[in-house]
Amino acid sequence: MPLKLRPATEADCFRIGCISREAFLGSTSNALFPPHLYSKSETGDPALDESKWRAARTLRRMRNGSPTFVVVEIPEDGNAEGTVVGYAQWDAPAAASAHASKGHWEDDRVPSPGSLNEAKLLELYVTLEAETKRVLGPEGHSNMYYLLSVAVDPAHQRRGIGRMLVLHGLDLAAKAGLDAFLHATPEGEGLYRSLGFQQVGEPFDLFGTKHFSMLWKHQSAASP
Ligand SMILES: CC(C)(COP(=O)(O)OP(=O)(O)OC[C@H]1O[C@@H](n2cnc3c(N)ncnc32)[C@H](O)[C@@H]1OP(=O)(O)O)[C@@H](O)C(=O)NCCC(=O)NCCS
Repeated sequence: MPLKLRPATEADCFRIGCISREAFLGSTSNALFPPHLYSKSETGDPALDESKWRAARTLRRMRNGSPTFVVVEIPEDGNAEGTVVGYAQWDAPAAASAHASKGHWEDDRVPSPGSLNEAKLLELYVTLEAETKRVLGPEGHSNMYYLLSVAVDPAHQRRGIGRMLVLHGLDLAAKAGLDAFLHATPEGEGLYRSLGFQQVGEPFDLFGTKHFSMLWKHQSAASP
């Protein structure tokens, strides 16, 4: 079925939250929503708590100016709206400079369900910020496009959807004459490398998984 990339709307946020939860189930989800806190679920369904929390965070970032895109699968039989199968959310420099003064941790805050391990969430932000400054210096990624999150519904992975989403952000960065930066999971690393990202600094550990800081230079991408 045909795939179409379009800007995300606020109505997409819950679906984005569900995709995010499913795609990160084997990695950050386990640390952020651990089984020992399931009994504290407010909805009675920890998966729903997590999807709603991820949706609220996506919405907050969107309202703070983070460019957000979805890929929709359009059925050939008439449902013109189709189904969202993947998303990417970026920090563009205008939003990033606001974060540089306040920090993502404060800027992203949304009400936390009891099933969320807040200490692990803080650890995630502290680790990513420290790694960013380690490889990019004190300005961090405030003058670049930064990939906050990309995920594809596991049932639709390896169809080129992640590639469409990341490429679109790189087009925007190139048009603005800016570089792009991200923290890669092992799942995304090969894809980013094939799009011209290069590893900067050493890999680092986040919740027991090796992650990579990766930089895409718009000038070098333009040269032969
Ligand atoms: C990382 C992620 C977003 C990639 O999404 P995706 O839609 O599967 O990405 P693509 O299909 O564009 O590319 C993924 C791989 O499939 C391959 N591929 C693309 N189309 C394909 C096809 N038709 N048949 C077979 N393989 C294909 C690509 O070459 C790529 O291979 P590589 O990893 O060896 O480079 C997805 O795996 C995901 O959501 N993972 C969990 C969340 C996560 O880790 N996000 C990244 C955070 S940095």
